[in-house]
Amino acid sequence: MVRDRLHVVMLPFSAFGHMIPFFQLSIALAKAGVHVSYVSTPRNIQRLPKIPPNLATFIDLVGFPLPTLQNGVLTEGSEATTDFPQEKLNQLPDWIIIDFFPHWAVEIAQDHNIRLVFFTVMSAATSVFLGKPPGFLFLSDQTPAWRSPESLTKPPEWVSFPSSVGWREYEAPFVLSGLYADGVSGMSDAARLTKVLRSCNAFAIRSCKEFEGEYLNLHEKLMAKPVISVGWGSVIETLQFGHSLVVLPLVYDQSLNASLLVDKHLAVEVERGKDGSFNRDGIANALRLAMVSDEGEAFRVRAREASAIFGDENLHQQHYIGQFVEYLKHGSHNIE
Ligand SMILES: *[C@@H]1O[C@H](CO)[C@@H](O)[C@H](O)[C@H]1NC(C)=O
Repeated sequence: MVRDRLHVVMLPFSAFGHMIPFFQLSIALAKAGVHVSYVSTPRNIQRLPKIPPNLATFIDLVGFPLPTLQNGVLTEGSEATTDFPQEKLNQLPDWIIIDFFPHWAVEIAQDHNIRLVFFTVMSAATSVFLGKPPGFLFLSDQTPAWRSPESLTKPPEWVSFPSSVGWREYEAPFVLSGLYADGVSGMSDAARLTKVLRSCNAFAIRSCKEFEGEYLNLHEKLMAKPVISVGWGSVIETLQFGHSLVVLPLVYDQSLNASLLVDKHLAVEVERGKDGSFNRDGIANALRLAMVSDEGEAFRVRAREASAIFGDENLHQQHYIGQFVEYLKHGSHNIE
């Protein structure tokens, strides 16, 4: 049976840096005629941007109240799952598009024979740090694949082209412990990620080959699963305006994003001390190079060239989203 009505469920992590990319992907899919159920907590749903009226029939925002947890982690404002509208559960979707946090969706998908896409908000240059099957972030014996902070400060051994993408010395210890420490849930981010990486049918990634094709190819080769570019990411969005960038990475994967932009001569990074400190002179120097000095002219030329590619809404919606929808349709056809 060929379905004319494609239906996907979106399960973002409850942080705006995740909910907004999932929301933007929902809008792009709706424009391509895909029906989307976007699941988050009621209060988060209220705080999302407005859906354009012409897409309203394609997007269903589903408020899913959080259960109360025994250990008192989730009490304030949490509601019962019985409030969840049952009729929403009775229509099985074609796909579930998940973040890595809701790893429990893996069992739901398996029980109901629904395919899974892992939509990552990280760039491909960051994603190559996820490793390769079967262990991904673990060695076969469950020891962490990344064992020292230093190992995170340079590109992984499988990156065979020139790259300076890695975390800074002063932040690597926190990244390492953040990845492998068991949270209050008793499950580390590394374990959640690995479970999702093993089970998903494909990856959707906020990137495109025009920006980091070499990392996308490598990531796909490592994963041995389809890696499909969908959304301009926040980094690419900043390139639409044709200005060279000044970067000052502070948290999460920002320093990897920053190195990638610097490698591509699209950004100037503010100079930092070994401990990560910076001062006004460093900021002034970076601004001068990016905006006025003669030596910075090459950056400004690159930035203008980049805006021609990344300011192209058609390339984004028609080409990339079109390709993703084709994959979702083709995948659904295969299992019917
Ligand atoms: C890094 O870049 C990716 C891809 O553009 C983006 O989705 C992500 O939000 C960025 N990370 C941060 C912390 O801004």
